[in-house]
Amino acid sequence: MIVVSYRGPVTSAGDGDTTVIRRATGGLVNTLAPALASRDTSWLFTTGHPGWSAEVRRRADEMFGGSGRLHPVAVDPETAHLHYDLFANSLLWPLFHNGFDRSHAPSYDRLFHRAWRGYQEVNRLVAAEVAVLARPGEAVVVHDYQLMLVPGMLKRQRPDLALAYFHHIPFVYPDSLGTLARPVAGQVLSSLNAVPAGFQSTRWQRAFEQCCRDYLETRDSFSFVAPVGPDIHHLDTRAGTADVARHRSALRRVSGGRRLVGRVDRADPMKNVERGLRAADLLLTESSDLARNTVFVHHLVPTRESVPGYREHADTLDRLARDINARHTVDGRPPVIVYREDDYDRAIALLAEYDVLLVNPVREGMNLVAQEGPLLNTRSGVVVVSEECGSSELLADAALGVHPLDVAQTAEALRYAIEMGPDERAERGRRLEAAVRHHCATPWHDSVVDLARLLRTGAA
Ligand code: F6P
Repeated sequence: MIVVSYRGPVTSAGDGDTTVIRRATGGLVNTLAPALASRDTSWLFTTGHPGWSAEVRRRADEMFGGSGRLHPVAVDPETAHLHYDLFANSLLWPLFHNGFDRSHAPSYDRLFHRAWRGYQEVNRLVAAEVAVLARPGEAVVVHDYQLMLVPGMLKRQRPDLALAYFHHIPFVYPDSLGTLARPVAGQVLSSLNAVPAGFQSTRWQRAFEQCCRDYLETRDSFSFVAPVGPDIHHLDTRAGTADVARHRSALRRVSGGRRLVGRVDRADPMKNVERGLRAADLLLTESSDLARNTVFVHHLVPTRESVPGYREHADTLDRLARDINARHTVDGRPPVIVYREDDYDRAIALLAEYDVLLVNPVREGMNLVAQEGPLLNTRSGVVVVSEECGSSELLADAALGVHPLDVAQTAEALRYAIEMGPDERAERGRRLEAAVRHHCATPWHDSVVDLARLLRTGAA
């Protein structure tokens, strides 16, 4: 089988043989990495130009058990910028999260038209490499919105392959898809509809099928639902390390006996950290007890810093946190702490130590943090979760659901969670963990491949 994604399992920095490589972090990569446990799986992904040297490729490969199964495809910086910064992340990402205020954005100028060509070009490059690499009849699963044209291209170039596509983020209804020019939307939908297309929840699947009916005038869409879960084995192994233990002690020192409300997110506007901070501000303003007894710890991983608006967004969050601390610090202890770095061990430590976990994205395909928290937490922590993410379906009423735009409701849910008695906490904690463990019982990648096969053979 070949797994195809924009990001690979390894990040690299520097040039030539001195390049430093490390295992990539992030939801998609952690979700796909277990697929490499099968010696029969290869992974094809993009990298910067001029690509990896043979030595770097060997070292990266060794991290995943060797035998040459990692296939980087080099993309030149200009095309990568047009594809990733502009088309994928300044247009498709907000579009699929319903994040546009169409009275002023997006606006399709000349640069946008170049960005669309850049998007097509990267999809073409990836499809061409897969077409050369794949054995006759091999299964190929293409992942996520950065590569939506690849399934259709491969279907034309290699009709023998057992193709599937998986969409990790939300899908939208026809009205919102209409943000794209009709030929662009049509091209995307025809490509996805050429193969079995998978989604994280029935909600996103229904939206996709509605778009196919409206745009392609077809009722024959081969879509399926396969909700993703965390890699439990990887989490357990990492949670037991000395580095995580060190971060846990540091967090306990920082909280100093206060109730710890934690969050772990990429610093992405769709994660809704700003409304989370406003809810904290509201609580602290309304209750001096809470200001004394609660600390809000934010683990915000820097992300997409080359995409317009992301750096400014992270700075806005910093300013807001400073402002809250200026008004609510009691006995020299600030109530808001923000860590802005990609330290995976600290993220794991925070998930083990929270009393309350806030996961309030504006909209999200699934959200793995909401599932990882209940697996790692050792304090009967309560989860407050956005009703607009796929994980809220899975956690159901064991978590406290909130509408992500409702700051007042979020503040109330946080207050309820912070003040919850030990019996209710323990009971909810048990149900949360059981829901996640049950859901992860079948390896996710196997379900995707099996469901796609059933759809192709007409058995589903
Ligand atoms: O789930 C959406 C997604 O873009 C994944 O494809 C990716 O792993 C993650 O978010 C992080 O984003 P990026 O790769 O752009 O840093």
